[in-house]
Amino acid sequence: LSLEDVIDADELVAWSNRVEAEIGSDPQYLSELKVDGVALALRYQDGELTTALTRGDGRSGDVVTANALTIVGLPPRLPPRWRERLPGRPRSIEVRGEAYLSLPRFRELNRLREEAGLPQLANPRNAAAGTLKTLDTAAVAARGLSLFCYQILGLDGEETGLATHRDEMAALGELGLPVNGFLRLAEGAAQIAAHLAELEGLRDGLDHVIDGAVIKVDELALHPSLGATAKAPRWGLAFKYAAQEATTRVRDVVLQVGRTGVITPVAELEPVLLGGTTVQRATLHNWDEIARKDLRVGDAVVVAKGGEIIPKVVRVLVGERPADARAVPSPQRCPVCATPAVRPEGE
Ligand code: IVH
Repeated sequence: LSLEDVIDADELVAWSNRVEAEIGSDPQYLSELKVDGVALALRYQDGELTTALTRGDGRSGDVVTANALTIVGLPPRLPPRWRERLPGRPRSIEVRGEAYLSLPRFRELNRLREEAGLPQLANPRNAAAGTLKTLDTAAVAARGLSLFCYQILGLDGEETGLATHRDEMAALGELGLPVNGFLRLAEGAAQIAAHLAELEGLRDGLDHVIDGAVIKVDELALHPSLGATAKAPRWGLAFKYAAQEATTRVRDVVLQVGRTGVITPVAELEPVLLGGTTVQRATLHNWDEIARKDLRVGDAVVVAKGGEIIPKVVRVLVGERPADARAVPSPQRCPVCATPAVRPEGE
């Protein structure tokens, strides 16, 4: 399954009210990071990593065992007395987590792609997904995928016997699996909201992209009784932060020519701090987009980064347009080879 997304405090309160009404008391909740990557299921049989699968569409994914074994910090085998850490003593377990590319690794990958004349990857999630599908395992290892684990299940009808999600995270760590250190225990919606605000403050300093936080009912025995919709369990929730925005000015619009000859207009901006990085360029996609936004060189614009790393121009502040703002004509010729530029009907 997936998780239900909410974007504001009211929806969070509505969810916790539903949970509390359902179980008839006030449970404890845990908040943790929602890393934006690719969900993996890792099967350990008798302590050996035998299979790694991507979540795919939730029913079928890809077997990516060799690639997963290159993940930094993922143990191919659990420590000798691993079963003693799990009260149910299962022989086989499935560990679930999110594989991702850290921001430094992602930037390096895009730098190499630029050198090779390949298009930029828009965000680390796409980069992680593409990396896991790569057939050359040595190339995958060079990319340096990371992992953050958040669930452990017994297989073949056996249980882990763990009572709380807190204990689940502690067990994962003790079995040598990578877990994230941000984990906050809350008594109700007000405390959860405080933890979400704390995390939002830390967000820009993280070395990876998060698209929000995940909130879970801590006591695992309550999960089945809370049930699920067709898409998502009711014991958990994804809280998505709003896209980060900043205002700046368009200095120029330059033409980028891709390998296939497609010309893309790119805005060069007055540098502005956004989501922990200085933004100086934003893609404008094409001339329809420029016309739709009525964007001109010299305009003040709002730029945003959602889950995407390459920022977008969200809107033009037309009221702040200087008298000398100039329109961006579509090119007559390719800026690289001077061949006449063409625009096929409908493209
Ligand atoms: S728990 C029923 N915890 O977000 C699914 N998921 O929107 C329960 N994710 O498929 C998943 N960080 O790929 C969980 N700390 C976290 C997570 C997390 C990222 C991803 C995961 C999941 C998706 C759900």
